[in-house]
Amino acid sequence: MARIPQETIEQIFSTARIEEVIGEFVQLKKSGSNLKGLSPFNNEKTPSFMVSPVKQIFKDFSSGKGGSVVTFLMELEQMTYPEALRWLANKYNIEVPEERPQTAEEIEAGNHREAVYLISEVANKWFQEQLHHSDEGRAVGLSYFKERGFSDETIAKFQLGYSPEKADAFAQYAIESKYNEKALEDSGISMNGDRGWYDRFRGRVMFPIHSISGRVLGFGGRILKNNVKAAKYLNSPENPIYHKSKVLYGLYQAKQEIVKKDEAFLVEGYTDVLSFHQNGVHNVVSSSGTSLTEGQIIMLKRYSSNITLLYDGDAAGIRASFRGLDMMLEAGINVRVVPFPDGEDPDSFAQKHSNEELEQFLAQQRKDFISYKTSVLLEEVGNDPLKRAEMVRDVVGSISKVPDAIGQEVFIKEAAKILDIDPRALHEELARLLDAQNRQARRKQADETPMEVLPSTEKVSTPFGHHQEEKVIHLIVARGVEDMLEEDLDPEEVVPISITEWAVENIEKDNIPFETPIFQRMYDLVKSELEAGHVPDSAWWIMQEDPEVVEVATKALTEPYVLSDWKRKDIHLPLERNTIKDLVQETVLRFKSIWVERKLNELKVQFNAANVDVDYYMTAFDKWNKVRQQINEELNRIV
Ligand code: CTP
Ligand code: MN
Repeated sequence: MARIPQETIEQIFSTARIEEVIGEFVQLKKSGSNLKGLSPFNNEKTPSFMVSPVKQIFKDFSSGKGGSVVTFLMELEQMTYPEALRWLANKYNIEVPEERPQTAEEIEAGNHREAVYLISEVANKWFQEQLHHSDEGRAVGLSYFKERGFSDETIAKFQLGYSPEKADAFAQYAIESKYNEKALEDSGISMNGDRGWYDRFRGRVMFPIHSISGRVLGFGGRILKNNVKAAKYLNSPENPIYHKSKVLYGLYQAKQEIVKKDEAFLVEGYTDVLSFHQNGVHNVVSSSGTSLTEGQIIMLKRYSSNITLLYDGDAAGIRASFRGLDMMLEAGINVRVVPFPDGEDPDSFAQKHSNEELEQFLAQQRKDFISYKTSVLLEEVGNDPLKRAEMVRDVVGSISKVPDAIGQEVFIKEAAKILDIDPRALHEELARLLDAQNRQARRKQADETPMEVLPSTEKVSTPFGHHQEEKVIHLIVARGVEDMLEEDLDPEEVVPISITEWAVENIEKDNIPFETPIFQRMYDLVKSELEAGHVPDSAWWIMQEDPEVVEVATKALTEPYVLSDWKRKDIHLPLERNTIKDLVQETVLRFKSIWVERKLNELKVQFNAANVDVDYYMTAFDKWNKVRQQINEELNRIV
């Protein structure tokens, strides 16, 4: 993708209102100078998700996640940095100048995805136009939807459409309107074969598939007559924007209700989703006929970790899905199941019953997955003792995937009751399984742990060092541009120096590294900015591409007191100039001191080991001892 010029990035960041953008995804309520809502990243009942219009950051206090308007889109919508920027540019009508890209491949790869998005959106409008305003569309498509009981409101809400019988109706329209032909072909909406262009979805009613933010990614098209040999549904092929395994049909329309109800119903088909909505049950998504992928589970879990699967009666299908469901248990999802009566699917049931009846049915029939699985298997196995033992292992296998011990306990009790056996037998089996799993995990971990480079030392514990490193970085992010000048010094004599410059100079003097990779990365970033003559302010940090960097920056901006557990009581924000100066000095010195102590310890251990070059170690020892002394002197001066 062609690079977005820095001025444009800055323009986008200064124009975009984080509260507006996040407000499209999360219901926000005013709370002091901030806005509060339920986190879209995890399942919570009391709002701990905060958006600061002043700082232009968000922070999810339950998971610790935080970031900018751009990293929010990256995280929630799986966009890349330039995609998120372009999305915002589009929303705020900011023109993104196309710099001349360096290579032909870049032009292609870069603009191609956007072109595929565009043609998909164009096709979506056109299919709807056909459904409502062409004779064929109204006579064939619209009447089909009406026959199936879908209201105008439902048809509009899901942007349903119609693709005419004619071989190349859309292709012709798109090409005449000068849309990019390669994008048309790659979208899979039309194909270019030996006999010219032809449309994939000829003579089908159309179901557009949306991303979480409502962009059209692809389509499902249903044939109108049930008896023909052709596949009942055709779907868009995988393409630069449509990845089947990362999309859930209906999530765009359902997400707010899923959060509100703290439950998602998972159905198999497009029409199940439609009929549930029409009935008044809006927290429903469809996996489009396949079992859930990990990507879909992660996506759904952001809205709720209560997922209820709605099965239509077919036992073989139900059995086949069991394996996949362990994956959901492992992800900490509370999996429940509602089996539908024979011959009914959620669509037909919802069409036949009132909202009250449907809600009541769902509430009454809902079983936890493990109990459900146990009863289904029990019915299958009968009294065959060998099969029975195998079944017990199978059930306990599922229970072992439940991440918390209390949950496991509950399910053991349930299963024992259903199977009519002593719960102790299940406990024993569970213990055996967990033991085996642990051993396996430990073996794997041992394989992955690199050999210690140095003989083991009494290391200063990492968390402590980490904390001090974090403080340094937080100061640089949150207060870096303020200057270190002391008030009582003669300004003529002292060149003002920023906190960031002072900290970097001081750390560089003794060449102290950061042990935590993200902090080292941020430190390297700041160094190269200083070399370019720029002291980064907090807005600059928030604009960065790396979401981890933005997350740390956000933390720095939302937890000012992290900086000040030192002399906690005296500190009132904003910090007094001298207080902040002392704070910076102390923080940097303590950070250095931790590393130096550790270095000295390592040297001692190495020195005690055999075969060492005494001169080398004595020199090193001497050097670090001096640094230590100096640090201690300086520390004594401030504290
Ligand atoms: N499906 C598909 N291709 C097919 C059949 C099914 O992609 N040839 C997917 C569709 O997403 C469909 C879902 O699997 O919605 C469930 O299939 P099915 O139960 O057969 O269809 P219904 O949703 O019941 O569709 P309808 O009510 O229109 O017959
Ligand atoms: Mn159906």
